[in-house]
Amino acid sequence: MQLVTEDNITELAVQRWATAGDPRLAELMTALVRHLHDFAREVRLTEAEWMAAVQWLTRTGQISNDKREEFILTSDVLGLSMLVVQMNHRLDPRATPATVLGPFHIEGSPELGYAEDMSEGLPGTPLYLHGTLRDLEGNPVPNAVLDVWQADTEGAYESQIPDIDEARLRAKYTTREDGTYCVRTIAPLGYAIPMDGPVGDLIGRTEISYFRPAHIHFLINVPGYEPLITHLFQEGSDYLDSDVVFGTKQELVTAFEEREPGPTPDGGTSDVPWLESTYDFVLQKQA
Ligand code: BEZ
Ligand code: FE
Repeated sequence: MQLVTEDNITELAVQRWATAGDPRLAELMTALVRHLHDFAREVRLTEAEWMAAVQWLTRTGQISNDKREEFILTSDVLGLSMLVVQMNHRLDPRATPATVLGPFHIEGSPELGYAEDMSEGLPGTPLYLHGTLRDLEGNPVPNAVLDVWQADTEGAYESQIPDIDEARLRAKYTTREDGTYCVRTIAPLGYAIPMDGPVGDLIGRTEISYFRPAHIHFLINVPGYEPLITHLFQEGSDYLDSDVVFGTKQELVTAFEEREPGPTPDGGTSDVPWLESTYDFVLQKQA
């Protein structure tokens, strides 16, 4: 029998976890054990600190539900989500870069036609966001679904508002034969990530800015192409250089140009001033 000491415990734990039947699981678990033990040694973790951390993790689980994903938020604010995204989407520099999914995507958004309004009369400045979905060679990608979601002008998603159950400010738009799309919505606002939970408690003890710049989310999953989860950010928005979840990239910043009342990109007319943004998404073919 090998007795446990402070010096051999890491190797003993690594040997146990190396027995996982799946070699990748064995690799993940043994590396996790090594790094956790190194962390505890480096900071000389006390029992009180470890108990506080366990209680924090417990609260993170308890506050999570089908509308609130506090563990995703944790990963986002630690920069881990964005690191994993970047390592797994090393795309051609001409392709639209990927960013974090975030906790607010839901399945089953309504399907809307070209330039149909996904804001359903909510107050806000009308925004027409349009362009072409194409591949690296410039060929249009037709009949592709753009799954779009955003916060309202108060910076809130429906899951954060008590008494709202139905989906809002989300839609699926399909590209036309020439690859063009047009999203009709209202201008989003930058917003604070949920601060009323364990992540907020922790951030509140730092100088970290807990805001995200104004953005709209896109999920574009077309067979044969690398799936793209990304956002577009409004040029000039506050917090572009301090996004709390590290999601901003220069290539994803787009101008929202001010337009006078008059003709809109869908051939209609706006009675009020509106905003226009043009953006071409570029997909990379799967290897
Ligand atoms: C979001 O943009 O929806 C989001 C992303 C990460 C954390 C919180 C919110
Ligand atoms: Fe968002």
